[in-house]
Amino acid sequence: MAMLAQGVGSAALRAAVPFVDLARQHSAAEPALSAAFERVMDRGSFTLGEEVDAFEQEFAAYVGTRYAVGVGSGTDALHFALRASGVGEGDEVITAVNTFAATAEAIGMCGAEPVFVDIDAETYLMDLQAVEAAITDRTRAIVPVHLYGQCVDMDHVRALARRHDLKVVEDACQAHGARLNGNTAGAAGDAGCFSFYPSKNLGALGDGGMVTTDDESIAMRVRSLRNHGEDDSRLHVESGWCSRLHGLQAAMLRAKLPHLDDWNARRIEAAHLYDGALSDSGVVTPFAARGATHVYHLYVVRAKERDALRAALGARGIQTGIHYAVPLHLEPAFAACGYVPGEFPVAERAAREIVSLPMYPYLTTDEVLSVAAQVAEVAYA
Ligand SMILES: Cc1ncc(COP(=O)(O)O)c(C=O)c1O
Repeated sequence: MAMLAQGVGSAALRAAVPFVDLARQHSAAEPALSAAFERVMDRGSFTLGEEVDAFEQEFAAYVGTRYAVGVGSGTDALHFALRASGVGEGDEVITAVNTFAATAEAIGMCGAEPVFVDIDAETYLMDLQAVEAAITDRTRAIVPVHLYGQCVDMDHVRALARRHDLKVVEDACQAHGARLNGNTAGAAGDAGCFSFYPSKNLGALGDGGMVTTDDESIAMRVRSLRNHGEDDSRLHVESGWCSRLHGLQAAMLRAKLPHLDDWNARRIEAAHLYDGALSDSGVVTPFAARGATHVYHLYVVRAKERDALRAALGARGIQTGIHYAVPLHLEPAFAACGYVPGEFPVAERAAREIVSLPMYPYLTTDEVLSVAAQVAEVAYA
């Protein structure tokens, strides 16, 4: 466990553990963050501009696509990528029922209808047989969600899409740097969408997002949509949105990007430490598929008495989360889609049992072992 921070000794064993601690990460990226701030202040280029151009090139190189286009959020990345892929009024777009609401919101923003599918009981990723069964004449696209930091099998998704002439827009908002069988998250579909929400594996100091693609026409259209529908000659060729990546955020992200692989490696190491320490604890630990580089945006375990476990951990100062407590077909916002309880049994059961434990790059060995010991103690009590 050489890379995990060694912690502060046995006194830490009962100490509070936050769900995420960005301050530790930021101190590791100093002084580059301060230098980036000063650079932007000196240049005075706050929306788009040189920092955004440079970050777009660096992020495209990292993901392995020809283009990357910075936007205001992961939600807008999904919205614009879907529009640029031809999704519009009356279309259906298939996605997982267990995801953040933004995935389905973005589909709705295009005037299309989200069609939900159940998830795999082990990986919590979309069930690809269910995707095939959900395809209709109106289906225009599939949005695989690389949930918790683990990639959907993109070879399988691409084969389905080819057979049915569909577009593939990856929701890689939780999967910066994740890979599966030679496919990198964000480089394996027609377009990839990232969020730079602060707690993501690569996070800004506010909101931000990115669309990655090899398709020049998608890149050009997203560039226009993010900036009021302007084209290169500054003509407003369509009515767009105001969703530009800020120069300050791009500069911060440029300072952090060189750390991303190290931060992911630290997350993976913490996850493996949790896996070992929780092996006899009565909770089900995450399943990483063969050949997967799971980057553990979230470390999600499963417990029969989930709410009691959360309450007991909370009382001991250990913060936890639920991702997600209500599958989207049961959220009021998507009631118009007409789904009923019981339609997605795997996701519904998972929603009752899953709990996300503290996970971030500078979690110490002592903290992981302390959280795991307390999970075991409570789960067996
Ligand atoms: C799976 C998923 N999709 C989309 C989003 C939306 O990203 P943002 O919050 O940057 O709009 C998020 C962010 O939480 C996410 O986790």
